[in-house]
Amino acid sequence: MPDKAAVIAALDAIRDPKSGQGLVAAGLAQGLTVAPTPEGLRAGFVMEVAPRDTALYAPVRDAAEAALKAIPGMARVSVVLTAETAPATRPARTASLSPQAVEQTRAKAPVPTDRPAHVRRVLAVASGKGGVGKSTVAVNLAAALAARGLSVGLLDADVYGPSLPTMLGVSGKPEYRDDRMEPHQAHGLKVMSVGLLTGANDAMVWRGPMASQALTQMLTQTRWGTEEQPLDVLVVDLPPGTGDVQLTLIQKTPLDGAVIVSTPQEVALADARRAHTLFQKVRVPTLGLIENMSGDVFGRGGAEAEAGRLGVPYLGDLPLDAALRQAGDAGRPLVSAEPDGPVAQRFALIAARLADVLGV
Ligand SMILES: Nc1ncnc2c1ncn2[C@@H]1O[C@H](COP(=O)(O)OP(=O)(O)OP(=O)(O)O)[C@@H](O)[C@H]1O
Ligand SMILES: [Mg+2]
Repeated sequence: MPDKAAVIAALDAIRDPKSGQGLVAAGLAQGLTVAPTPEGLRAGFVMEVAPRDTALYAPVRDAAEAALKAIPGMARVSVVLTAETAPATRPARTASLSPQAVEQTRAKAPVPTDRPAHVRRVLAVASGKGGVGKSTVAVNLAAALAARGLSVGLLDADVYGPSLPTMLGVSGKPEYRDDRMEPHQAHGLKVMSVGLLTGANDAMVWRGPMASQALTQMLTQTRWGTEEQPLDVLVVDLPPGTGDVQLTLIQKTPLDGAVIVSTPQEVALADARRAHTLFQKVRVPTLGLIENMSGDVFGRGGAEAEAGRLGVPYLGDLPLDAALRQAGDAGRPLVSAEPDGPVAQRFALIAARLADVLGV
């Protein structure tokens, strides 16, 4: 059996492009875990980098993953690349929410009046912190709801970092027909993203009102359903954070409920609490907490305990699983790629509970 020293040596043979040091020496292998399993060794860690550096470090993550897999006796490897804090262009991400801010924004922003036509339920997927797997959950949850025979749409409201076009492998401007935008169809889902409207590579520096205008437009001007075939559920992938932009977005969106995604870490949990508070202020029920990246690296069970404290349902955990990331990178939800796999089963349970409370 290889040991932790072999793992560290393999990682230190890969250079941090910024400091030139090995990955472990550079402090880039956070929460490095090496654990035996019946099939062999399991190794995983998290690489937290500045948001502007994620592209620079993606090949480094791939190299680290390949190097660990090449160690004889290694059965499973998960390396997660995540952005550490709010990028400069996302000022609202870390802004905290004061009661005064709620009142002020409430006074300015109209309450939602525009329900999207022919959409039965609107479900938000939110997180307090960035990079916790909100989009991954939104995509796979939508696929799991569709697998129940429901008609499902997915709206990428992350105006700052739209990722659904990549995760679902869709591109190209939506077509206009009879004053409505036609959503893209992918993996049985109807998809609309601000990334499709603007071009995925445009650097977006939206202020609150523009962000909210873009969202309203995608929400109300997309042909999600028709009189004969209404959409059962529209899943909305919200931008991370609990600042004024998020507040404006959720105030203007007629949400029937929200799901909050968190990692087990305390810092992410504190953010989950803030997200829950935000939804409480606008009287949108939090339908549950999901623990993502659960397992050896981050720990386990934090979100369940937090759900108990907040008095909201706990919907289950999703393991740190390289297949989940690879499927997203390849433009296909893992739930559709491996409908009988363990991850799909977990999402099926979560989808069943949500479909039940939403009455669809
Ligand atoms: N359970 C998991 N196991 C392994 N990798 C994961 C898991 N969940 C998410 N990831 C990966 O972590 C990264 C961040 O996930 P994702 O983009 O879904 O997060 P997010 O919360 O939507 O981020 P952002 O705040 O930037 O919108 C992605 O590379 C994704 O593939
Ligand atoms: Mg996202």
